[in-house]
Amino acid sequence: MPPTFRDKARGASRILGTGRCVPEDVITNEDLEKIIDTTDEWITTRTGMKRRHKVAEEEATSDLAAVALRRASEDAGIELTDLDAIIVGTASPDMPFPSTACFVQQHLDLPGIPAFDISAACSGFIYGSTMANSLIVSGQFETVGVIGAETLTRITNYKDRSTCVLFGDGAGAAIYGPSDGQQGVIAAYLGADGNLSHLLNMPGGGSRQPASYETVDADLHYIRMEGSEVFKSAVRAMESSAKKAIEIAGITIEEIDLFIPHQANIRIIKALASRINLKPEQLYVNVEEYGNTSAASIPIALDEARELGIITEGSLVVMVAFGGGFTWGSLVVRF
Ligand code: ACO
Repeated sequence: MPPTFRDKARGASRILGTGRCVPEDVITNEDLEKIIDTTDEWITTRTGMKRRHKVAEEEATSDLAAVALRRASEDAGIELTDLDAIIVGTASPDMPFPSTACFVQQHLDLPGIPAFDISAACSGFIYGSTMANSLIVSGQFETVGVIGAETLTRITNYKDRSTCVLFGDGAGAAIYGPSDGQQGVIAAYLGADGNLSHLLNMPGGGSRQPASYETVDADLHYIRMEGSEVFKSAVRAMESSAKKAIEIAGITIEEIDLFIPHQANIRIIKALASRINLKPEQLYVNVEEYGNTSAASIPIALDEARELGIITEGSLVVMVAFGGGFTWGSLVVRF
């Protein structure tokens, strides 16, 4: 009898490798000063951002995602053909369908394995990672690639100064595989509140308001946001989500080696850090360089922190996301 899923079920999954792909072109605060009524000083003090990266004209989300996943497989020391599934978290897919994950699979020439997107906005990487962990723990799969990838500059309205300073492009990936020791995912926590969907969304182009000349004229194919309401909800949800995951993991705040929050805004990050009593050295921040890259922000930060040697073997890392939906989620991982 071949082994069943149940025979192959295991205690945990772990991150085998990470990678990122960030486009070279940048939009600086000075560039934005030339197209909207804003200043470097306003953007810096209100958001902490100095630059955000922008995809080339011919590139789409799956192009960045495929490079990030390839780099993660090199880092993990595995062949791409070892992957059993590809999951992409994105709010800026190549097309409404097929999924961006299917395009990634095509770019990497991996026909046959399942590939699907998760629509959880900025929480997409944490939702995808939780899914990958469950699939591996259940015994269904051994090796799963999770990517957070965005080309938000494609859906940003550069006439709206309250949103266009915030968003950038990029992709980050992690490869999850079985864990037989102390390393791996210790806790995962997810949540959502669809009642607050009106505060952050892109209303045009779906079945509610299909693309038409009218929707384009009304700028409905761009991100819309009630900034100050999103700000308050983000701080509250990330605080409770972080606390829940920490409680599930049975760890203390002091034990955390690195805390990676979604890079939405430096003031959101600082408010969160102060509410849960994090020390500055426990916090990873790169919002200055990339702006808010939605689902890509946590995996880009994760890969950078590993490259910089901030995360090493044994490090205890907590990742916390919040995004449109609203959605939120946290992951506690021992490296
Ligand atoms: N430059 C100059 N002035 C501006 C700009 C700008 N780019 N944008 C807005 N203003 C003005 C407003 O018009 C307003 O002027 P008024 O007082 O004359 O009406 C003033 O600045 C204050 O506006 P607020 O919206 O109250 O400014 P706030 O301090 O809330 O900062 C911001 C705005 C940065 C958008 C903030 O609300 C924020 O960061 N919110 C959270 C956004 C976020 O993180 N969203 C994503 C989270 S989820 C995800 O990642 C998808």
